[in-house]
Amino acid sequence: MDEIRSQRDDTPRHVAIIMDGNGRWAESRGASRLEGHRAGLEACREVVRSANELGIEHLTLYAFSLENWNRPKEEVRALMHLLETYLDEEIEEVMKNDIRLRTIGRNDRLPPSVRTRVEAAVERTRDNRAMDLLFALSYGGRAEIVDAARKLACDVEDGKLDPDRIDEKVFAAYLYAPDVPDPDLLIRTGDELRVSNFLLWQIAYTEIYTTPTMWPDFSKSHLIEAIADYQQRERRFGMTSAQVSAPTRPRE
Ligand code: FPP
Repeated sequence: MDEIRSQRDDTPRHVAIIMDGNGRWAESRGASRLEGHRAGLEACREVVRSANELGIEHLTLYAFSLENWNRPKEEVRALMHLLETYLDEEIEEVMKNDIRLRTIGRNDRLPPSVRTRVEAAVERTRDNRAMDLLFALSYGGRAEIVDAARKLACDVEDGKLDPDRIDEKVFAAYLYAPDVPDPDLLIRTGDELRVSNFLLWQIAYTEIYTTPTMWPDFSKSHLIEAIADYQQRERRFGMTSAQVSAPTRPRE
């Protein structure tokens, strides 16, 4: 439904997705969790392609959380392997579609072979402009805030930053991807109502959409449904309905 792109100017600029339900999708078919993750990877391919077609500028996928390191070793290994597979198999498609691949998270914890591939893909795609594809890898929202606070404290200690100058804008500049606008829309699949330590700073005014659809079943039509739902919402950012529907917004 490319009408979303051509007929409306309220397409979300940044969509973030918590891809949940691979395990339950597999279980309901008597398949292994690994098969669920494999099917989840196929859904990733389709959603990346679709998001680009729909004119989304930034897509952030929660691929592996810091907490996920605590899963059984076999499952962690399988997920790392799937990530390598994605990078190996999709890089040409990503290049062809002018997509810039980036990551947020504590990359230093990734196995060296994964890290090397990730860094190569980030480097190779750095001049692509159609869409930013951010993989949250080894990512935690609280860890991101802690990492930002640490960097900021170092700058204060080195005399590069005056503590009196610290406000929300200055702080946000220390986050992992400071140039990326906050998500307009956060989608969570898999019938759960949690934010699971994802983009805690950035989702302050994000519209949240949840669906019972398990991630491997999530397709372009589901993405369009989520965007259509988002387009019905009135985003007030703490103001009144009358203020946001007025032809000119009050100055800050
Ligand atoms: C949640 O399913 C999903 C994840 C833990 C990670 C997301 C992984 C993929 C979409 C597949 C691999 C893709 C990449 C790029 C690595 P779950 O296992 O928590 O499902 P459950 O809640 O039903 O058990």
